[in-house]
Amino acid sequence: MITTVQQHILEQQQDFSEASGTFSWLLSGITLATKMIEAKIRSAGLTGVLGAYGSENVQGEQQQKLDVYANQALLHCLGLRDSVAALVSEEDEEPVTFDRSVKTGKYIIIFDPLDGSSNIDVNVNVGTIFSIHKRLQDGDLNASILQPGTRQVAAGYVVYGPSTVLVYTTGEGVHGFTLDPAIGAFVLSHENMRMPDRGPYYSVNEANAASWPDGYAEYLAELRGEGYSSRYIGSLVADFHRTVLKGGVFLYPPTRKQPGGKLRLLYEANPLAFLAEQAGGMASNGTGRTLEIQPAGIHQRTPFMVGSRWEMERFQAVMREV
Ligand code: AHG
Ligand code: MN
Ligand code: MN
Repeated sequence: MITTVQQHILEQQQDFSEASGTFSWLLSGITLATKMIEAKIRSAGLTGVLGAYGSENVQGEQQQKLDVYANQALLHCLGLRDSVAALVSEEDEEPVTFDRSVKTGKYIIIFDPLDGSSNIDVNVNVGTIFSIHKRLQDGDLNASILQPGTRQVAAGYVVYGPSTVLVYTTGEGVHGFTLDPAIGAFVLSHENMRMPDRGPYYSVNEANAASWPDGYAEYLAELRGEGYSSRYIGSLVADFHRTVLKGGVFLYPPTRKQPGGKLRLLYEANPLAFLAEQAGGMASNGTGRTLEIQPAGIHQRTPFMVGSRWEMERFQAVMREV
């Protein structure tokens, strides 16, 4: 008997129990949008959606056509859910807010609509990442958006690869679902995902090695000495998904170009840090727990190290010695 992600949410009796219907309705907005994105990606080369859109996003990065499409799909599908008070996207300078009462508009959804978009044109895995906060009682939207990662009520990603896999948590473990093209539904395929305590891989863009702060090169030299292998896809979701399944460590350290780190706290680091901890792993910005960072802005960046307990505790020990 199959279990779809909608059924799984309802069965899990989330701490949304007073509104499990609302949450599963919210999630169905995300899954619908990701199925639309998946369909576009599958035939991208045929429908002229490859390549640059011709404008820059707020990050000053060239937007790919699929960045724009993915963003529009999510804004459309989620904007129709009246439980949404605000939508925050990597692709939009400001949050999209809806004039809904605190009683109705209860959730904030923050997302990276297309992660790894530089890989789209070369047919390499890309993803979508989402993070969900509950609106604060006093209704202040800005404060509700800038909550630390520890306050997330749900987080997840979809990795568009040889198969399309959705992974999510609401704080009750991490669960994976594979899109069954025959029925167009995400079907439970990885119940209760646990990150191995130690893995065979480290994952980092070594081209930045010369500009890493002290400690990083020594740490990675130690892992190489212990026989680790290197895997770096350049799509965070794909590198993270492998780390959850096989174990090991992913690092995006501070670099000369990005002294505050390249990855964004609200829609890359926080959701994946929540998932990592729920799967038995850890996530750090190099000096502290990612989830405890108090955000100051919706597009703020952070150094991001995430992985298995053994590698992350070793990383913390090395960084204490520098
Ligand atoms: P996005 O496509 O959403 O901008 O994210 C790209 C990110 C992330 O997916 C990946 O880990 C990282 O950029 C790769 O950066 P480098 O090419 O600098 O290694
Ligand atoms: Mn990204
Ligand atoms: Mn992106």
